[in-house]
Amino acid sequence: MAEAQARQRGGNADDDSGSARSGVRFEVDGEIATITLDRPEKRNAQTFATWSELARIGESLPEQVRVVVVKGEGPSFSAGIDLRMFTPEGVPGQGSFSSAAKSEGAGFEQRVSQAQAGFLWLRRPEIVSIAAVQGHAIGAGFQLALACDLRIVAEDVSFCMKEPALGLVPDLTGTKPLVDLVGLAKAIDICLTARTVHAEEAVRIGLAERVVAGGDLEQAIQDKAAQLLSTNRDAAVATKRLLQGALGRTLEEQSAAEAVEQAARIRTLFG
Ligand code: ACO
Repeated sequence: MAEAQARQRGGNADDDSGSARSGVRFEVDGEIATITLDRPEKRNAQTFATWSELARIGESLPEQVRVVVVKGEGPSFSAGIDLRMFTPEGVPGQGSFSSAAKSEGAGFEQRVSQAQAGFLWLRRPEIVSIAAVQGHAIGAGFQLALACDLRIVAEDVSFCMKEPALGLVPDLTGTKPLVDLVGLAKAIDICLTARTVHAEEAVRIGLAERVVAGGDLEQAIQDKAAQLLSTNRDAAVATKRLLQGALGRTLEEQSAAEAVEQAARIRTLFG
């Protein structure tokens, strides 16, 4: 990839000084933005700071960006939530689940919804998000991959929705895309057994678009980004909007929505 136009580094969540750091790197190169979970020594475990940084990136995403790549540094895409968040001490500067559990009223739900904001923007019609997934994608890591529109995976990928095994539910926006992608029965099987889904099955059941050798992952992502950028920007936004609405509409409603979007396209192109 050419010299990035903008770079920001979120730091290391293992910070013992108490300041909350995200372990997220963000780069923009023209129409492509890349988000890199950058704590490979801890298998890109995620904290509240990670999710805040993801949300902040979404809020300030430069307007020219059309493709957002989400990837993880090192052998694993992400080993999920930082397990220190389940200890009484928590992550320095970020608290823990036991402190959050004691919070009054809707405090915990609000924290979850703040965390979810880091994932939800990846489905905006204005962008196409691609997860480049190698090694482990566990729990919150699996859900971050699910938050993206497309998943291109390395041969060694292993997805695992571990939350139910830990007494939790997946709450980082992953349940709906999982059901949409693989169907209810398969989603129940994957989540309620917390079993591992490897590359061949991931592609077969529609969880991943493509599997490549680990060394080819970066090139495969670049190729997909180039393909996505080869179409008309406004038509791509309108088409994604249509496709996203399709599941919730009848055929007649969807046809009407197509006509509305096309009328706008025709006015722009020929009006
Ligand atoms: N949270 C905090 N630290 C982690 C996490 C995690 N989720 N995952 C790995 N690490 C740390 C390890 O403690 C270890 O640290 P150390 O070097 O200081 O001892 C380092 O990352 C490397 O981990 P290894 O286990 O040595 O790496 P390996 O490649 O052999 O295994 C694996 C990777 C399979 C991902 C393993 O680390 C693991 O099972 N991690 C926990 C996964 C998990 O249960 N996540 C929670 C899911 S539920 C949710 O996300 C809501």
